[in-house]
Amino acid sequence: MSDSIVQSQHGPRMTLRRMPFSYEKPGKAHWNSGKPEFSQIVNAASLAMPYLEPHLIRSMRRARPKITDPILLEQLDQYVYQEGQHYQQHKKYNDSIASEYPCVHGIEEVLAADYKRLDKKSLRFRLAYAEGFESMALAIGNMLITDREFLFGNSDSTVTSLVLWHFIEEIEHKNVAFDVFDHLYGSYFWRITGFLYATVHIFWRSRQAYKRLLQQDGLWQNLKSRWRLAGLLLRIFKKLIPRLLPVFRPGYHPEQISDPQWALDWAVMFNADPELTSKLDTCRFDEDSPASLPN
Ligand SMILES: [Fe+2]
Ligand SMILES: [Fe+2]
Repeated sequence: MSDSIVQSQHGPRMTLRRMPFSYEKPGKAHWNSGKPEFSQIVNAASLAMPYLEPHLIRSMRRARPKITDPILLEQLDQYVYQEGQHYQQHKKYNDSIASEYPCVHGIEEVLAADYKRLDKKSLRFRLAYAEGFESMALAIGNMLITDREFLFGNSDSTVTSLVLWHFIEEIEHKNVAFDVFDHLYGSYFWRITGFLYATVHIFWRSRQAYKRLLQQDGLWQNLKSRWRLAGLLLRIFKKLIPRLLPVFRPGYHPEQISDPQWALDWAVMFNADPELTSKLDTCRFDEDSPASLPN
């Protein structure tokens, strides 16, 4: 578990962490028992991570020999480390879902084929896709943290801690994909193309996946559940769209998006004791700073 902090050209950012999560108990797909639809939306996104994030890593590794800025090279390596940790942790969690949901295998096959295809695209397109995904993840991370009490309140601590750790690190490395793309290509047209492609791709695949998970639950056919899902999506998009719009500005840089104080407090908590951040107390999400479950 180490903990090196890099002074980037855009301020101190990345800490390299190894998180002590474990998913010994299967059957936690409805990790937020009061919100099974949100649970499955998050699970659907989690299923993509062991395919999407290795693709991002491969793109960055292909870009690496072309980069001439030593600070950016160091940041790229730290980005690769963080993304590597993310998909490994999600894979462990996804395996626990797959043991309960036979449809997971088919969902994973589609994702594997998608990223095999994307691996064959030009490096410019792949880096634009990476930056597009990162800008979307930054907006989602800020939205999840701001709305944490509604979305994660009173839910399973481990899954919540996994999701919020991931997005806190997405916020930490928000500048890297932008700076790598800008350093090598810097085209507004391709940046926006990558953003639109990545957003539509991830949202569409996530929708297909949560539909199948909810079908297996018997909830997709349930009118009350579909109304809850519609209301939830409306709430999410109402909060997300204003956070996505700045990406279209020609002068956009992720550094312009300020970090939520809750995420900064989480990082301080991790430095004090990493175990604390792996068991967040979801009953205290109304408080300004994160707290962990008592031992
Ligand atoms: Fe990630
Ligand atoms: Fe990321």
